Amino acid sequence: MDRDESRRTQIWTIDPETPEKDVIAKAAELLCQGGLVAFPTETVYGLGANAWDVRAVKRIFVAKGRPAHNPLIVHVAESHLARLLVNDWPPMAQRLADRFWPGPLTLVLPKAANVPEVVTAGGPNVAIRCPAHPVAFALLAKAAIPIAAPSANRSTELSPTRAEHVLKSLGGRIDLILDAGPCSGGIESTVLDLTSSPPCILRPGLITPRMLEPILGCTPQLLGHELKCKTSEPLETMSPFSSPGQMRKHYAPRARLVLVKSNDLARRMMSHLQNAGWLSFGEGGTVAMPTTPADYAARLYDALHQLDDSNVDVIIVTLPPAQLEWYAVHDRLRRAASDEPGPEEVTSLE
Ligand code: TXA
Ligand code: MG
Repeated sequence: MDRDESRRTQIWTIDPETPEKDVIAKAAELLCQGGLVAFPTETVYGLGANAWDVRAVKRIFVAKGRPAHNPLIVHVAESHLARLLVNDWPPMAQRLADRFWPGPLTLVLPKAANVPEVVTAGGPNVAIRCPAHPVAFALLAKAAIPIAAPSANRSTELSPTRAEHVLKSLGGRIDLILDAGPCSGGIESTVLDLTSSPPCILRPGLITPRMLEPILGCTPQLLGHELKCKTSEPLETMSPFSSPGQMRKHYAPRARLVLVKSNDLARRMMSHLQNAGWLSFGEGGTVAMPTTPADYAARLYDALHQLDDSNVDVIIVTLPPAQLEWYAVHDRLRRAASDEPGPEEVTSLE
């Protein structure tokens, strides 16, 4: 490959249910050689590199413009492979893996000595998940390596739920995109820290506190608060999170995003605005959003990408109900609406 050739991002379509073996084999080979491969998971597209390969993992940070202090999730094909990455695999981790893997739950545990520091951003713990998408599974199984993979977008931008979103954000900066169509989950995995007691949700997602509770035998903490509510405490009582790697401005569209409490108010605002788009709760808006949490999550980033691509200046979003089942969606909407400046300047790793 000459230099220009190596800068081109290839896009290979792949069957989402039954991935073609030859395509998987070539993508796996690329990963094993230190390449960056974007691939679909059941949540969002990930940007993968061989987790054992320090140089390859550093390329992820450079391609994304990601701050070096924000650690990466390591993906494995099967739960028993997670044990190779940790220095202790407690029975609770096994119970959670048995119940939720493959699926959108990431577990944070003390790392094994051989996990490169660049993966964990120098920290003592590693985040691991076993994705449910057939393409992700086939790639992990064929490459037979753990794959470090953040969401396949430039840092602070919206996560990608389609290959087109990856290309828009990272085209020319990565080697390959495996295009298997849209992701079904739509928002990133729940991140659960098992090193604290009770375990702490660092990032809410489609695996909800209520789903975790019976396995944990207790109510998980939610970063920044105690989650006292078991059913439907109003969300207003819950404040946004802060922790390393949980930047407030994140998952943000280019347009300015404004959250409002009712479709009525949104409709009145829209009548005064030019060049604005509206995600209504149910019928009415530029995009009519679904009214159940899972369907809403599946549609959210795609709708925001769509409005950004139509070059609106403002996006009005009618907030879903203030109930715990909507917690992960509210979290992403608040981050997308943040006016705070982005993360500090990227530390170059190369
Ligand atoms: O659904 C997902 O999780 C997607 C797909 C591709 O798997 N991945 C993803 O990765 O969203 P990323 O890098 O965009 O978000 C990972 C989150 C960040 O908030 C990061 O700070 C946190 O997980 N994280 C990663 N490693 C961690 C660790 N060792 N300790 C605490 N938090 C960690
Ligand atoms: Mg991300």
